[in-house]
Amino acid sequence: MATMQAWVARDYGPPEKVLRLDKLPIPEPQGRQVLVRILASSLNPIDLRMVQGYGARLRRLVAREEFPFIPGRDVVGEVVESGSEVTKFETGDLVVGITDLREIGAHAQFSAISETNLTHAPPGIPPGKLAAIPYVAMTTWSALVGRLDLDPSSAAGKSLFVHAGSGGIGSFTIQWAKSLDMKVSTTCGPSNVEWVKELGADVVMNYRDQDYREIVQDVDFAYDTLGGKYEKGTVALVKSGGGYVSLIHPTMRYTDRFGLFGGGLAAIGTLVGRKILHGMKGRKYAWAIAQPSEAGITHVMGKVGSGKIRAVIDRELPMKDIISGFEHLASGRAKGKVVLLREDV
Ligand SMILES: NC(=O)c1ccc[n+]([C@@H]2O[C@H](COP(=O)([O-])OP(=O)(O)OC[C@H]3O[C@@H](n4cnc5c(N)ncnc54)[C@H](OP(=O)(O)O)[C@@H]3O)[C@@H](O)[C@H]2O)c1
Repeated sequence: MATMQAWVARDYGPPEKVLRLDKLPIPEPQGRQVLVRILASSLNPIDLRMVQGYGARLRRLVAREEFPFIPGRDVVGEVVESGSEVTKFETGDLVVGITDLREIGAHAQFSAISETNLTHAPPGIPPGKLAAIPYVAMTTWSALVGRLDLDPSSAAGKSLFVHAGSGGIGSFTIQWAKSLDMKVSTTCGPSNVEWVKELGADVVMNYRDQDYREIVQDVDFAYDTLGGKYEKGTVALVKSGGGYVSLIHPTMRYTDRFGLFGGGLAAIGTLVGRKILHGMKGRKYAWAIAQPSEAGITHVMGKVGSGKIRAVIDRELPMKDIISGFEHLASGRAKGKVVLLREDV
């Protein structure tokens, strides 16, 4: 059986303790899956948290086996084999996208991925530059298009507030929203104000010295990447008829703690209560989880190909240095994405 090298966890814990470079069989693509020879991937906060056990109950339900667990959601690579029902790609195609919760596994030499989670890579852009984009893009697509019904074709002139414009999600969202001619306001740390302005944001507030609640009002969309104590003030920015969506919600935490049924019920109860409360003020209220979208990845990569969106990269590392990449991500000092390149790229 042909084997590949992969970063594998056989238990949950800190990456430096549980992740090992190991040999595993190369997966066989099933049905609509293609086998992708990975050229680049990148690290997201979710990779770190899943290695530590976050979302384990949900993954136990959807994945064929819980362990060995290969983390990794962002994928750029070459199609080397196709399942029997694949129609979109051929061997040799360069593709970009994300793995879903059932597949994960991008921090490896090969990964079997549904063709609906992928699109053709825009030509002329190095794999490392593309790998920084898909997961943050699909998170934002799931949140704003999927949950708040933002229609990219009629978004021009509408206003969006997003927290943490210097983060992975924020720096993508600013560029995407500006490519749709939206009005964008955001917050970030003092040292990042200038480059966040360069990304295109119309209003950039330094969260240490300025209070966004006194500066921003009546937005069509508020996108919360901080949650917790920030939620109340962020929902209040939304005008009647507009919507609030948060990435920081208790769904996974509840299911990890109370099981899928009990945790799911607790999460739905909390969500419905808040929807009713904010609905009475004419605002949509939602929680989002990153999910693949064929329409979304195709739309976003069109923008990347035409130069409207560019990757924000902190550093590129060979895939063998994943542990130091996770350490840098965990330090909170990354300014942009940590990208992992296959050594022979
Ligand atoms: N629900 C989902 O499916 C989903 C998907 C993706 C991400 N997430 C979550 O969304 C969050 C954001 O993800 P990310 O990838 O963008 O994280 P990230 O790249 O680590 O972003 C962190 C940023 O937060 C900024 N920040 C810290 N405190 C702030 C404050 N008080 N006000 C404004 N900005 C502040 C920092 O800005 P400075 O450096 O300028 O200080 C930093 O740039 C994470 O918690 C992640 O786990 C959820």
